[in-house]
Amino acid sequence: MRILAIETSCDDTCASVLENDKILSNVISSQMDLYKKWRGVVPDIAKRAHKKRIWPVITEALMRAFNLRSQGSLDLSKGIEKIDVVAVTQGPGLAIALGVGIGVAKELAKKYKKKLVAVNHVEGHILSNFLKNSKGKPERKIKFPALVLTVSGGHTKLVLVDGIGKYEIVGETLDDAAGEALDKAAKMLGFGYPGGPIIERLAEKGNENFLDLPRPMSKFKNCNFSFSGLKTSFYYKIRKWKKDRVAEKVHDLAASYQKAVFDSLLIKLQRAINETKAKSLMGAGGVMANLELRKDLRKLAKKNNLPIFMPFKKELNTDNAAMIGIVGYYKAKKGEFVKDIDKLEREARLELIEN
Ligand code: KG4
Ligand code: ZN
Repeated sequence: MRILAIETSCDDTCASVLENDKILSNVISSQMDLYKKWRGVVPDIAKRAHKKRIWPVITEALMRAFNLRSQGSLDLSKGIEKIDVVAVTQGPGLAIALGVGIGVAKELAKKYKKKLVAVNHVEGHILSNFLKNSKGKPERKIKFPALVLTVSGGHTKLVLVDGIGKYEIVGETLDDAAGEALDKAAKMLGFGYPGGPIIERLAEKGNENFLDLPRPMSKFKNCNFSFSGLKTSFYYKIRKWKKDRVAEKVHDLAASYQKAVFDSLLIKLQRAINETKAKSLMGAGGVMANLELRKDLRKLAKKNNLPIFMPFKKELNTDNAAMIGIVGYYKAKKGEFVKDIDKLEREARLELIEN
């Protein structure tokens, strides 16, 4: 089965082509540069950029997947002919950004008479661990139940996966997402968006014990997270500092803050391992691109004698359409298509498990 997947839930315009669970192409057009001066995603700008970029991104994904460039063809319909299913992110995400991808997916499905699958973005992050390259690598035997820590700018969740499509939420953030907490700290320190990779770079040379910061929720006997208190505590610690002191200590500040965020994640992951008796661990989401967090996670897995999996490529951690494609593949296999294409609507607050 060949799937064309489209993802426009936030600030990346993405399209990918999959053959079952194998990635044939994965095109990501980042809007990062547009938000430098705003220090965060601006929905209106995102919508406009998605509109401008989505067709070239889809065409590029089809051309790369089917090697159409060598045939001198730039014709979208030549690529679409080879596709069986269109998959698109329905939510959660920024409503007006989601609307662009959904509009295009509907148009393609109707014009070329393709089946359409609506995908939950968070499920995409979870299943990014099941993606393979065009040669079918890596082959992974993920033992269920598997415990996934999925951490990005929009969500932070611990999900117990008992097979594809069988999810139980073990814990989640009660306020900010972990990525959002990192983005906000970078902003406080005077840096741009996205803050996660900036904090990561600064933290490399810093002393993580420099500031004494809380590990929110660590005493609570559940697996939920909270990051807004940590952000406030950081703010109060440095608010009276002069600019040059912040500049002088910026590495130590970043390292201490990053450590507090990651410790909070790991404390709850350990609790969840104890409570669920998971047989394997997985990491997913944009924050998982962080090398320090990956190292911490590997250590924790080793201590618990559990296998750990992460997406096989860095670009599969942050938003991409291949992860939407793999959910599309599994849903299509089960016949879970959109029944009435005209009625498909964006769902900015779509839950992973609908009640
Ligand atoms: O999954 P993602 O691309 O989009 C959402 O679904 O939100 O995640 C974006 C988040 C941002 O908060 C960004 O700062 C964070 O992931 N991020 C990182 C790194 N790369 C991206 N956080 C820490 N270290 C990184 N290297
Ligand atoms: Zn995401």
